[in-house]
Amino acid sequence: MINKIPHFALVLTCFVVCSAKNSILQAQVPPSNYDESKIPFDTFPDPFTFLDGSKVETAEDWKNKRQPEIMEVFAREMYGQSPAAPEFVEFEFISKDENALNGKAVREEIDITLAVTESPTVMRMLIYRPKGKKNVPAFLTLNFGGNHSISDDPGISLNENWMRNRSDRGYENNKATEKTRGTASSRWPAEMIVNRGYALCTIYYGDIDPDFDDGFKNGVHQHFYEKDQEKLRPDQWGSIAAWAWGLSRGLDYLEINDAIDAKRVAVMGHSRLGKTSLWAGANDPRFAITISNDSGCGGAALNRRRIGESVTRINTSFPHWFCDNFVKYNHNEDALPVDQHLLVAAIAPRPVYIASAVEDTWADPKGEFLAAKMADPVYRFLGTNGMGGKATPTEHPAVDQAIKSGRIGYHVRSGKHDVTDFDWNQYLDFADLHLMKKK
Ligand code: GCU
Repeated sequence: MINKIPHFALVLTCFVVCSAKNSILQAQVPPSNYDESKIPFDTFPDPFTFLDGSKVETAEDWKNKRQPEIMEVFAREMYGQSPAAPEFVEFEFISKDENALNGKAVREEIDITLAVTESPTVMRMLIYRPKGKKNVPAFLTLNFGGNHSISDDPGISLNENWMRNRSDRGYENNKATEKTRGTASSRWPAEMIVNRGYALCTIYYGDIDPDFDDGFKNGVHQHFYEKDQEKLRPDQWGSIAAWAWGLSRGLDYLEINDAIDAKRVAVMGHSRLGKTSLWAGANDPRFAITISNDSGCGGAALNRRRIGESVTRINTSFPHWFCDNFVKYNHNEDALPVDQHLLVAAIAPRPVYIASAVEDTWADPKGEFLAAKMADPVYRFLGTNGMGGKATPTEHPAVDQAIKSGRIGYHVRSGKHDVTDFDWNQYLDFADLHLMKKK
């Protein structure tokens, strides 16, 4: 049965789009720099100075003017502007198992329609939630390999959409095979999450927009062109913005699912999907917590440092992730009136957690920490405890020592670019602090 529920709670944003930049992009990309002494810029945009040079004096100035100004620049120059939320949440129950995860959880699959047209784009949400409980807090995430890749539970439907080939894992001819079941389970400890009292809700990101550069013909973009529009404008949504928009549509659905408390949903993502969770969390104030795991360039890492992956590199390798305007900042990061600490600050005063991994130098762990640290004064200005403690921390914390007592969490874990139980343990502790009712 298809369900249609009107959804009024969402703010209207402007209509969308982005376009082809590939041609300009095949210019030379210099080798990546890892040397701190060769960082080209040493100053970063001041959170408390408006674009016209005037100063933020009050919390109201921040909330009503500076935060929207920052978001407007990010939307126009980097991620692209996304369309308004649809008027209805249309969804369909696909499956349910009352005895999942050794009897501890309920597992459900729900199809959520992203655009109601003759050939709609539909994303499938998989939920594991603690059995016998209503109104539980949740983690909402996107995954890379299909919902069936997060667990070897044979009841999860195999995703049939386009997938990136990876024959060692069973992704062939751009499709998932049975062999791909559970291949990402180490990143998704569903049982641990459910045991701690949370639901895990996840969606395959390619359901929203397949992750390749096709000029935005497929995925959700195709439904939002204006009449006679053939390609995206340079300030309209790239793929990261589309994935983030899809996360908000996931939250629309959770608002009408009474097993989940939609006011206590943490949006979490890894790598390109960590960039996505930051953009989703900054745009949609309904997300109670925002978690970015190893998000790197275009996520938490500061663009102006140009360490590891640079703006030029990311725009060249992944021309569809950002809007076309972002190409203006290739080798020219300093011209962008924002940097990524301001994206973290734009989430304030809601809790945000940024995680790095020591060996993930491509994502510039130090740049990720500095973005958190440089957002801390905004959190404090808004009357919260920022990264915790009495003042902004001066040093990068020791490896595997999480900072998690304030509104901004941070850790640098030992090991590689990945999501591990260590990461999840920190996110669960952070969520306990902010989302679990004190007894
Ligand atoms: C590449 C890309 C990163 C991205 C990562 C991922 O390494 O350069 O920006 O975060 O892929 O998403 O896996």
